[in-house]
Amino acid sequence: MASFETAPMSSAGGSATPIIGVFDSGFGGLTVLRALVARLPDARFVFIGDTARLPYGSKSRRTIARYAAQSAQFLVQEQGAEFLVIACNTASALALDAIQAAVTVPVLGVIEPGATAARAASRTGDVLVIATDATVQSHAYAAASRARGLRALEKACPLLVPLVEEGWTDHPVTAEVIRVYLNELNAEAAAAGLNPDTLVLGCTHYPLLRPLIEGAVPAGMRVIDSAEAAAEAAVLQFGGGIAHAKSSGDQMTSMELRCFATDSVEKFERLGSRFLGRPVGKVELVDLGG
Ligand code: DGL
Repeated sequence: MASFETAPMSSAGGSATPIIGVFDSGFGGLTVLRALVARLPDARFVFIGDTARLPYGSKSRRTIARYAAQSAQFLVQEQGAEFLVIACNTASALALDAIQAAVTVPVLGVIEPGATAARAASRTGDVLVIATDATVQSHAYAAASRARGLRALEKACPLLVPLVEEGWTDHPVTAEVIRVYLNELNAEAAAAGLNPDTLVLGCTHYPLLRPLIEGAVPAGMRVIDSAEAAAEAAVLQFGGGIAHAKSSGDQMTSMELRCFATDSVEKFERLGSRFLGRPVGKVELVDLGG
């Protein structure tokens, strides 16, 4: 069990505004936070990126579950989070049960909202999903899609996370890698007799590549951002608590954010603002153990 040594987010002023904890293996989850902030501008957020142990997408279920549970406990036990959003497809796909067992607050993952958004978008009932290796091997999207009457074809795109981490979000090499992956996926779909009209971005890093991806999909294909879909679901699930705090006259400020990382604080500060769409501010280093 990890020990944590950071002061919790201040409740100065007696504000009862709920704290929403947001977790990712790195800083891709800031795309989910960005979508959350846009919808809940009065909420207080604590974000942790487990940058020391990224990528999760190439690790085993057991390891991912252990890492994710530690981050969830940090957010709840040390930072007072009352709701958790697992802003990581890999952790959502492989460790949602482990996270829910590790904490006592409501936990929302990104897979179910992504599949729900795909259901709403698709007319043919056939969808494509791109994600990390671990997410694809778990077939979490295929299962969530099947439960909604969709057929899903999943493809691992392991080169994309490192390219985003490198900051190559608008680079010809990245565009070419995306083109190759999507050509392969479309060929596999045709061979399987599918007629897909929707592509799910099943990794929180991929929204940063959205312009390149939209430029590479066949005309008319809809691109679903699981970050946006998760934020919509979070508002439905947690938004009432925020609205209640506001209507009860609790002291509300504009959005408060505290960011933690388990490594690479400077890189997080540098690249994080690109993911969040605003400066991330000072990122604090935390040690979650091994
Ligand atoms: N955050 C992960 C996801 O959404 C991608 C990065 C990783 O592999 O850890 O699947």
